[in-house]
Amino acid sequence: MPGVADAYLRAVREKYNAIEIWPESDRWLAHVKTWIAGAIAEWQPRLGLTPNSRILNAGSGDESYSIAPGMVINSDIADRKLVGMPCGVAGDLARLPLQTGAVDVCVCVGSVVNYVPEVPRAIDEIGRVVKPGGSLILEFENSASLEYVGTPHFGRDVSQVSTFFIYENENIWVYNERHMRRLLSNAGFEVEAVSRAHFIAPLVHGYAQNIHYAARFLWLDRFIRHIPFLNRHSANVIYLCRRR
Ligand SMILES: C[S@@+](CC[C@H](N)C(=O)[O-])C[C@H]1O[C@@H](n2cnc3c(N)ncnc32)[C@H](O)[C@@H]1O
Repeated sequence: MPGVADAYLRAVREKYNAIEIWPESDRWLAHVKTWIAGAIAEWQPRLGLTPNSRILNAGSGDESYSIAPGMVINSDIADRKLVGMPCGVAGDLARLPLQTGAVDVCVCVGSVVNYVPEVPRAIDEIGRVVKPGGSLILEFENSASLEYVGTPHFGRDVSQVSTFFIYENENIWVYNERHMRRLLSNAGFEVEAVSRAHFIAPLVHGYAQNIHYAARFLWLDRFIRHIPFLNRHSANVIYLCRRR
């Protein structure tokens, strides 16, 4: 259904062109951003970057995460977010305007793949542009999040959900880890490291439908991420992957 997908992408572009992505006043988002930035900082030494490296920041918005050294190509469907970003390339993640093997590293975080109607194609595209031996840091929202317990979405490979972002409802796709790992493997990636965040707060949000109240439970992440059964049910997952 190309017409429907195009309309969805247009709506995403308009939305992100117009908003501040991580407003400081939003405690929930601040927590996600700090966790993503922490995982990138922790894994950065494993990326083998040099001043000659080429890095694709896919679905960059206006955030660079200080990934260095190397040349960063910032790419996003929301073209206005790229104004002032070095090396900005406007375009859809599922149709990257880059040559095969063009980059050493791709960073794709901030739930970018959850906005993509054709996620297998987007992951294949990332696999195409990252050269063999290169790396990918990928973050996404998980269908096994406790927020979806008792709903038809819980644990599904792919499910379209109505959720919230900056106090607005929006429709995105969520994926389970098994499905995402299969897509990554098909695209030539092995998962080398994982971090997970957001456990109890999404459960509270699922019942209370109040993110301010749910955000009070974010501190519990610190403990729950170490409990093997529960930590599979995080709302957000981030992978460090190596391209075969
Ligand atoms: C929550 S923001 C995250 C931005 C940035 N990665 C960060 O962490 O700050 C999601 C971004 O994904 C971008 N996006 C959504 N769908 C996309 C697509 N199909 N192709 C490229 N970018 C897309 C949006 O425009 C938006 O900038």
